[in-house]
Amino acid sequence: MPTTITLDLAARRSEVIIGENTLSQLPQWLAQQSRIGKRGVLITDSNVDPLYGDQVLESLESQNYNITRIVIPAGEASKNMQQISDICRAMLQAELDRHSFLIALGGGVIGDAAGFAAAIFQRGIPVVQIPTTVVAQVDSSVGGKTGVNTPEGKNLIGAFHQPDLVFADVQTLNTLPEREYNEGFAEIIKHAAIRDASLLDLVEEIGLEKIKLVELITRNVAIKAAIVEEDERETTGTRALLNFGHTIGHGIEAAAGYGKMLHGEAISLGLVAAIRLSQQHSGLSDDQAQRLIAALKLVQLPTQLDPSIDREKILRILRLDKKFIDGQIRFVLLKSIGNAFVSKDITFTDIETAVDALYQ
Ligand code: NAD
Ligand code: GLY
Repeated sequence: MPTTITLDLAARRSEVIIGENTLSQLPQWLAQQSRIGKRGVLITDSNVDPLYGDQVLESLESQNYNITRIVIPAGEASKNMQQISDICRAMLQAELDRHSFLIALGGGVIGDAAGFAAAIFQRGIPVVQIPTTVVAQVDSSVGGKTGVNTPEGKNLIGAFHQPDLVFADVQTLNTLPEREYNEGFAEIIKHAAIRDASLLDLVEEIGLEKIKLVELITRNVAIKAAIVEEDERETTGTRALLNFGHTIGHGIEAAAGYGKMLHGEAISLGLVAAIRLSQQHSGLSDDQAQRLIAALKLVQLPTQLDPSIDREKILRILRLDKKFIDGQIRFVLLKSIGNAFVSKDITFTDIETAVDALYQ
C-alpha cells in the first residue's frame, strides 16, 4: 500500500502518494480527486516520454480519460517563457478548457514548467505532479513553486500553484542515469541538516543502494510538507530554511555554466561552504560538520571545487545577487544538525573565505 501525506494549505488540500510500482494505479487515485474530471493534458519531456508516457496514457485511457500528450525537449533549457507560450497554445488548439486538468510527468524541469502553464492556463487549472527524479520526488513536486528561467536568472518568473495530487512511484528512479540519481541526495542531506538528524542515519545506512526508497522519499516529503504548511508563501522565514546551501551553490552553478555541473553537485559545494560557516559562526560542532560532509562524499557528491571553475566569476555572480546588494545578507546556518536558522551576521568577506576554502 502506498504511503500518503496530506498538506493542508490556504490554497487547497494537496495529497502526496508515494509507492513502488504504482504508476498504473494512477486512475484510481485520480478518481478520488474532486476537482479532476476526465479531460486533461499530459506534459512530459523527450527522455521520460519513451520510458513512461505510453504506460501512463494507456492506464488513463482504459478508464475513459481523454488525454492530449505534449512532449517538450528534455533539459533545463526548456524552462523558458517561449516554451510556456507554446504549451498553452497547444492546449488551446486541443480545445482544453478551464475544466481540464494537467499532468506533469518528469523531473523538476517538467514539474516547474508544466506547473506554471497550469497556473496561468485559463487563470489556473488543477495540476497533478508525477515526479520521476530524486530531486522532483523529494523536493520540487511538493510545495507549489512553479516557474521558468530568463536570461536574467533562474526561477525569477513564476507562480505558487499547489498540486491537487503528487503521485510518486520510486520504481521510476531505476532508469535515472547515475549522476542524476546521486545529485538528488544533495536536497536529501539538506533536509536532514535543517530539520531531521535521524534522516542522516538512513542516508548513512543505504548510501546509493536502491533500497528503502519509499521510506526515504516519504521522510523527505514529510519534512518539506511540514515546512510548506508552516510558511506556504515564504513570508515568515521558515520556508527560507530550504535555501540552506543554495546561495553559494547557485553562484557556483551559474559560474560553471548551466548544464556543466548538475544542480545537486553545485548545491553539494554550497552545503559544504554553509556547513563551514556554521562551524565558524553558529556553533555547529566539528563532529557534526564532518558527519554531514562525509554523507555528501558517501553519495559521491563533490566537496571540493574544481580549479577550472573561476573564483572571480563565482564571487562576481554572488556580488550581483540582490541579497548582497541590499547590504544585509540572509544566510541559512546550522546550530546543530536538524536545527537551522536565518542569520543576518554573515558578511561578503565571510562568503569569500568560504568559497576559497572549497578549493583546498
Ligand atoms: P530534470 O527535470 O532536467 O531531470 C534530469 C534529467 O533526467 C533530464 O534529462 C530528464 O529528462 C531525465 N529524467 C527524468 N526522469 C527520468 C527517469 N525516471 N529516467 C530517466 N531519465 C529521467 O531535472 P531535475 O533534477 O529533476 O530538476 C531540476 C529542476 O528542478 C531545476 O530547474 C530546479 O530549478 C527545479 N527545482 C524546483 C524546485 C521547486 O520547489 N519547484 C525545487 C528544486 C528544484
Ligand atoms: N525548493 C525550495 C522551496 O520549495 O521553497
